[in-house]
Amino acid sequence: MEQESSFEMARRRMRNWRFRYIYIFILLIPVHFIFDYFGIYLMARSESFSEFKYPHEVDMPKLVAAFERGKKPWVGPLNRLIHPEVSNAEDKCLNGVFGDLHVVLVIKSAMNHFENRNMIRRTWGLEMNDLGFRTRRVFVVGVDPLNQELQQQIHEENVAFHDIVQYFFKDSYWNNTIKTMLAFKWVEQYCSNAKYAFFLDDDYYVSNRNLKKFIHTVPESKRKNFIAGYIWTYARPLRQKNSKWYVTLEEYPYFYWPPYPTAGSYLVTMETIHKFNIAMLYTKYTRFDDVFIGIVAWKLGIRLTHSEHMHYYNVPYTKEAYRDTIAMHEVLGMDLWKIWNEQEKLIS
Ligand SMILES: *[C@@H]1O[C@H](CO)[C@@H](O)[C@H](O)[C@H]1NC(C)=O
Repeated sequence: MEQESSFEMARRRMRNWRFRYIYIFILLIPVHFIFDYFGIYLMARSESFSEFKYPHEVDMPKLVAAFERGKKPWVGPLNRLIHPEVSNAEDKCLNGVFGDLHVVLVIKSAMNHFENRNMIRRTWGLEMNDLGFRTRRVFVVGVDPLNQELQQQIHEENVAFHDIVQYFFKDSYWNNTIKTMLAFKWVEQYCSNAKYAFFLDDDYYVSNRNLKKFIHTVPESKRKNFIAGYIWTYARPLRQKNSKWYVTLEEYPYFYWPPYPTAGSYLVTMETIHKFNIAMLYTKYTRFDDVFIGIVAWKLGIRLTHSEHMHYYNVPYTKEAYRDTIAMHEVLGMDLWKIWNEQEKLIS
């Protein structure tokens, strides 16, 4: 009797264990999907940034130097900017009687953002001819081949203002890297007499007074390699599958991005733009325009300059809070008009 019961007990225990495994297994299924959904596996499988390599794996400063000496680089380009010009605002940066051009404001705009552009023209986009601070403004857009009416409106706008730089590529969010590369190319081709280009989006507030002040703090020695913006360090690619910015390991295998300026606003010297225009052709394309800037800068060995006054997030307006602001995201319409007018009246 006793033997039988211990035998029974052992059997029951076995059955319990088997159930327990099944329970655990059933529990693990949702855990697995949650891990998968939030990209935990991808994060675990991503490579350390200290292993960072990115095509072309070349000594980029050396490649740029070879290019400058008129030598053909030993590798072929990875990107070709074959998009034709539709309009180029070619007279924009002519020196005329005013002397040095200090900054060209290069505003990446969406085709149908007519109101944003008009408000910028009436506020911070007003071109200045001060002795120590001369600015010009252009808007960079692509095309919509299916919308002739929109194209006609852009054409008329350009006839009125001569400030539209348009290239033939589809104007869409995920083509912002193309737009950025073309904007860099335009600056060097048509505006190389400017000392700086300030790249902006069309939903920004900018203070020319604070921009001027900031530029005067940049030492001459730093101008060869200079990009300033709101710099992200140790930002991670999003591995969450439902995210708009989801990145696979095939697209980018590392745990961190290199440091990069948030794309809404960053300031670059002409010397640096020149280097970028070469290096960008020899660097693998990524659809994240700001990350692309960071990758190219990393490959060129350029250390980015952080400015906490170029805001990628909106700070609610007060006269005081905006006193030192150089750029602020998400300021539109009458808000922009009021803020700009009030800040203009402040003494620097
Ligand atoms: C980007 O532009 C190119 C050239 O016009 C076009 O072929 C491509 O479909 C565009 N990509 C997106 C994501 O809109």
